[in-house]
Amino acid sequence: MTGVQNLKAVRGNFLDVTRTISHPEEIESALRFIEDGLLLISEGKVVWFGSWEEGKSRIPETIRVRDYRGKLIVPGFIDTHIHYPQSEMVGAYGEQLLEWLNKHTFPTERRYKDPEYAREMASFFLKQLLRNGTTTALVFGTVHPESANALFEAASNINMRMIAGKVMMDRNAPEWLLDDAESSYLESKALIERWHKNRRLLYAITPRFAPTSTPEQLAMAQRLRQEYPDTWVHTHLCENKDEIAWVKELFPERKNYLDVYHHYGLTGKNSVFAHCIHLEEEEWDCLHDTDSTIAFCPTSNLYLGSGLFNLQKAWRKKIKVGIGTDIGAGTTFNMLQTLNEAYKVMQLQGYRLSAYEAFYLATLGGAHSLGLDSYIGNFDIGKEADFVVLEPTATPLQQLRYDNSVSLMDKLFVMITLGDDRSIYRTYIDGQLVYERT
Ligand code: GUN
Ligand code: FE
Repeated sequence: MTGVQNLKAVRGNFLDVTRTISHPEEIESALRFIEDGLLLISEGKVVWFGSWEEGKSRIPETIRVRDYRGKLIVPGFIDTHIHYPQSEMVGAYGEQLLEWLNKHTFPTERRYKDPEYAREMASFFLKQLLRNGTTTALVFGTVHPESANALFEAASNINMRMIAGKVMMDRNAPEWLLDDAESSYLESKALIERWHKNRRLLYAITPRFAPTSTPEQLAMAQRLRQEYPDTWVHTHLCENKDEIAWVKELFPERKNYLDVYHHYGLTGKNSVFAHCIHLEEEEWDCLHDTDSTIAFCPTSNLYLGSGLFNLQKAWRKKIKVGIGTDIGAGTTFNMLQTLNEAYKVMQLQGYRLSAYEAFYLATLGGAHSLGLDSYIGNFDIGKEADFVVLEPTATPLQQLRYDNSVSLMDKLFVMITLGDDRSIYRTYIDGQLVYERT
């Protein structure tokens, strides 16, 4: 390829999903496995993808090929729900959601008022994402605009595609963690003006959850959404039964929990609702009718004892679903481990989550759930070159199981079941190597 700037060539076994699907049965026909393939990248974008034999003549002699034969190269993982200011509290003991928030979470988030601390932790957080192969995430900050600034700055330094926002919360939490309706509006607006669509960064209007926002604040969130219709909305929904009962007390005039958000115009395409475990029928229908997204967070749902998400029903209702780690209620940054727990959550409900379906949810399906599938999620020409080189045999047990696995599906399933951060051999963002396992 002559005349292409800054060409990079990557060789290895590639796996991705070529198109979005509306039912898990479609997944096999959408899968693309290229044994000994070649990926050509220029200016952070895929410019050619196919078999090594077909593509090798396109590589100029001056280019060094990054040779990852024996490894598996996949699109970067997409985490559709995570709290960066909870990295330091994973494993906080003993509580379910509401007590966990009061006892552990709010005091932890308090520290992010300090911009120095926020910067330190933003850097720590991004390193954890990269060492786990996650190249895009939808991220909660804290109530402090300092937290969002620190995170956007850090992500901007490596040109990461990330969606994040400052939390809006003006009641039912300690006074030192509250904003008010007007300040939350002004601070969010300033952040949108500064960061939204700045390089690959995007903004999510982020009311924490209905119990911590007054109707006045939700109206301000609505105003932001109207003024900036191409931003995202990111919040929690129907995670815990006590939480749901509380929402019904606080908003008796609304039909159900989701109706609170819907009333304030916060449902819709690019609205992402974490958890959605205990939905009423009308809420399922509203999520479908408004083209909203669910973030399924298996490790968090098990850890806080919140319940089992019904993925099968989401498929049936044709609602987009992504996977979230939900750090710090979730217990790992690692998407393979998260998918392993998703498999178990579905086992408990009599549903067999296949390795391909799980892989889809963590890559192209996740991109689709965030409205980003024309930018990321697979190796199509023109997509942004965010990808992970997986080491399928990082431990003796993995080697044993991998060698005994006959099909690609088996191999991938073993990787999901036994994989962790040791499986992440290299991570690339925007065509650049950003993490190397040592
Ligand atoms: N609901 C409101 N805030 C939170 C949070 O920080 N984590 C989780 N898991 N649920 C929430
Ligand atoms: Fe959460």
